Amino acid sequence: MSKKKILIARAIFPDILAGLEQQFNVESNQADEIFSPEVLLEKVRGKDAVMVTSSEGISAALIQASPQLKAICNIAVGYNNIALDAATQAGIMVTNTPDVLNETTADFGWALLMAAARRITESEHWLRAGHWKKWSYDGFLGADLHGSTLGIIGMGRIGQAIARRSMGFDMKVVYHNRSRLTPELEARANNAEYRTKEDVLRQADHVVLVLPYSAATHHTIAAAELALMKPTAILVNIARGGIVDDIALIDALREQRIAGAGIDVFEGEPAFNPGFLALSNVVLTPHIASASEQTRRAMTNCAASNLIAALAGQLPPNCLNPQVNSKG
Ligand code: GLV
Repeated sequence: MSKKKILIARAIFPDILAGLEQQFNVESNQADEIFSPEVLLEKVRGKDAVMVTSSEGISAALIQASPQLKAICNIAVGYNNIALDAATQAGIMVTNTPDVLNETTADFGWALLMAAARRITESEHWLRAGHWKKWSYDGFLGADLHGSTLGIIGMGRIGQAIARRSMGFDMKVVYHNRSRLTPELEARANNAEYRTKEDVLRQADHVVLVLPYSAATHHTIAAAELALMKPTAILVNIARGGIVDDIALIDALREQRIAGAGIDVFEGEPAFNPGFLALSNVVLTPHIASASEQTRRAMTNCAASNLIAALAGQLPPNCLNPQVNSKG
C-alpha cells in the first residue's frame, strides 16, 4: 500500500519528523520558509493531511481546493488560523494541541506581568546603555504584585493555571469568562470571583488576557475598556493579536493612562505597530509563551499523534470537529 502524503508546513524537531517519515510520504519544510497563501494552497493540494502552526492560514478557499485532504493538524491550542466550519463541511478533521502547554504558558504570563510591573526590561536597557552612575531611592519604582488583585479575562485551562500561581503572592483573583466556572474550579483557582468584563477591568490591579480569538472576541480590549483600568495597572496579552486594539493600547501607554503592558501577541504579527517601540513601559516578546523545549516538543508530538490517528481512520485525541467521520 502506498504511503499517505502529508505536508509539514514548518520546520519541526528532526526526530519527530523522522518518525513521521517512516509512516508517511512527507513533504517537509526544514528550511522554515514562510509560504504565501498561493504556495501553501499548491503544496496542500493532493496531500492527505497537513501539519501547520498558528502562522499558516488555512482558508476556506484552500480547503475547497484540496479534496483529498482528511486532516488539518495545528501545532497550537488556538485555531483561529483555520476555517473550521469550512473544514467540517468538507469532512476534514481539525485538531489542536490543548493542555500540554497550559503550565508553560501560565509561567510566561507571570514572567511578562512581573517584568512589566517591576520594569525589568526597561531598567536592563538603561543599565546596558551605560546610564547607571548612582543608586537612587526612586530608581525604576514599579508596582507590587503581592497582595494585589489579579484580573483574568478568559478563564480556561491556562487562565486557571495563572490563577493558581497567584496563591503564592497572596493575591485576590477576579475573572471573566464566557461561562462561570464550577465552584470546585473557582476554589482551585485561588477562590477566583466571577465578574463582568467591565468589573474585572475596574477592580483588578493587573489584567491578564488568555481568551481565544474569534470574531466575537476581536478588540475585547479597546479604548473604552482601557479607560476602565486603573492608571497603575499592567495589562498582559498572551492570547492572540486582535484581542487588543493595539492602536488604542499604544495611546493608553503613551499617555500613561495605564502603567504598563506585557505583550506577546500582536495584530498582524510578525509585523507589529512600530508605535510600541517608542514606549518604555511595555515589555514586548515575539509570541513565545509556550516556548520551552519540553512544551514545544509535547505540542509537536501531540499534533503528530492527532495526524496519525486521523489518517488511520480513528478519532484523534484532540479533534475539534468530532462530528466529521474520517474519510480514512
Ligand atoms: C499559541 O499561541 C497557541 O495557540 O498554542
